[in-house]
Amino acid sequence: MGELPLPRKPCERIKRNSLILHLSRLKWEALNSQPDRYHGKSLKMNSTTTQESGAETAAVILHNVNKIYRLDSVDVPALTDVNLLVRPNRFTVLSGASGSGKTTLLNIMGCIDNANTGHVLVAGEEVQKLSDDALSDFRAKNIGFIFQNFNLLPVLTAFENIEYPMIMAKVPPAKRKRRVEKLLNAVGLSDRAKNRPGQLSGGQRQRVAVARALACKPQLVLADEPTANLDSQTGTAIIQLMRHMQRAYHISFIFSSHDPKVLAAADDTLFIQDGRITSVKRCDDLAETSV
Ligand SMILES: Nc1ncnc2c1ncn2[C@@H]1O[C@H](COP(=O)(O)OP(=O)(O)O)[C@@H](O)[C@H]1O
Ligand SMILES: [Mg+2]
Repeated sequence: MGELPLPRKPCERIKRNSLILHLSRLKWEALNSQPDRYHGKSLKMNSTTTQESGAETAAVILHNVNKIYRLDSVDVPALTDVNLLVRPNRFTVLSGASGSGKTTLLNIMGCIDNANTGHVLVAGEEVQKLSDDALSDFRAKNIGFIFQNFNLLPVLTAFENIEYPMIMAKVPPAKRKRRVEKLLNAVGLSDRAKNRPGQLSGGQRQRVAVARALACKPQLVLADEPTANLDSQTGTAIIQLMRHMQRAYHISFIFSSHDPKVLAAADDTLFIQDGRITSVKRCDDLAETSV
């Protein structure tokens, strides 16, 4: 774990009876030695694993999360008893067939949607407890999104699309300009700064979207099937770019896909089927662990 940066916030004293806060300050050696304890039916922790020097904040923790959509008075269960922990500063792939619950799970992790039951912690914050305003602020500061259909604003140039979230976050103009130029360079589009999305290829649009997701220096980036609308070669290049950016910027990156090729890029893989996490594979595991 030597390569991991120090926690961003000082460890707080953990309340004796708060399992959830308790889980957010894990001792990572314990996680690595017993990975199956963090995605099974039970997330009970040994009460001695409280704050310790070297403990880190998990990127995301879900505890007993359920999500049911109601459609024409019929309940559609989208997520059932989801317990999982996403490690920070990793490239995590969420793998599952169409309809398995990937988008629903990412939307809950990204605070776009609410779970019906359960607890959701993102970067150590129990997000359900935040007011709407505080949640918007938290999302803007901590989470970047990349979508399948790019979701760029068509009337803005590549430069302006990347700059936009920084305007919302009230970043001063000179700082914004420096950051956009750096990101355009990082995604290989310095010479396309003035192009609008309609004047860019699909792969270039997704590069702009990657840069935009990183504009406000988030801790967590969520990418929902970002290569689904790209040809295979372009998709592979985008995966490599995201992998590179995840490492270079020390971000927790969660990437959903039903393409088995993507698994090769993963540090950790969460397998989802019919709304349930069926197994979790971590880069330093010897073997896949089944729930
Ligand atoms: N807004 C919605 N209303 C009703 N059912 C939905 C809604 N969104 C998703 N679902 C259902 O929830 C399940 C999971 O969907 P989704 O999270 O989109 O899966 P995936 O992203 O893996 O394709 C599916 O059965 C889908 O039909
Ligand atoms: Mg989806």
